[in-house]
Amino acid sequence: MLRNLSLNRRQVCQIAAMAGLAFSVVLPFKADNASAKGKKPSRKKETVMSLDPPVQDGTVSLEKVIKQRRTVRSFGKVPVSKQQFSQILWSAQGITEDGGFKRASPSGGALYPADVYAVVGNNCIEDMGAGVYHYQPKHHSVTKVAGGDRRNDLAIASLSQMWMAGAPVLFVITAEYLRITCKYGDRGIRYALIEIGHISQNIFLQCQALGLSAGIVGAFDDGKVARSAGVYKNHEPLVILPVGYRE
Ligand SMILES: Cc1cc2nc3c(=O)[nH]c(=O)nc-3n(C[C@H](O)[C@H](O)[C@H](O)COP(=O)(O)O)c2cc1C
Repeated sequence: MLRNLSLNRRQVCQIAAMAGLAFSVVLPFKADNASAKGKKPSRKKETVMSLDPPVQDGTVSLEKVIKQRRTVRSFGKVPVSKQQFSQILWSAQGITEDGGFKRASPSGGALYPADVYAVVGNNCIEDMGAGVYHYQPKHHSVTKVAGGDRRNDLAIASLSQMWMAGAPVLFVITAEYLRITCKYGDRGIRYALIEIGHISQNIFLQCQALGLSAGIVGAFDDGKVARSAGVYKNHEPLVILPVGYRE
């Protein structure tokens, strides 16, 4: 029966990615830092939180936000609103194709190897507890994959760039290479990295349009960041964007 089953490359990649996801659910990174209290993030404990519908007709010009965007490394304590949080995630990876699956950022072969996690501090986003939230583009929702304020751990894991811990929310962007290398081989790694750049710039520009600011951090210990953020196994952290109001 299997011999008669002919799959195209996209279907093979989807099955491989699903298998990878199942594997990552069974064997998530062991969160062994102090705030994680040795608990592994588990899908069973995840709570799903739907996000406000994104606004799609902002009033600030694209040229203005491109001109104004800067890497910011100092943030005030003013919380980010839930609407802003929703908007930033939508700009990163939200579904933008009516009735389809294509997203805000382009992706080689539309295979979408990236994931976005939000590491949120205490009293930093209205109506949301501290913890790590994993964005689900299909449903425009987040699942809480870990609790506790992990911003400090993340800053320490980033070669002690402690300014990061002052941002209300830190977006960690990861890649699961198998989703794309199964089609493109090693070149898929290049495509995944390019995609991460697109997602990052979208977050930068959306923040600017919302009156928020973002920083970007690539200097970190990959394993420590993965554990601090409690990301799933095979999701490799590539960049962190701390976001908040500029101080
Ligand atoms: C991939 C990448 C990694 C970066 N890593 C860090 C970092 O670890 N720490 C930091 O303070 N800035 C980091 N930056 C920010 C750059 O220093 C910044 O983009 C550069 O100075 C240009 O300034 P601008 O972004 O304000 O235009 C990084 C930028 C990129 C694109």
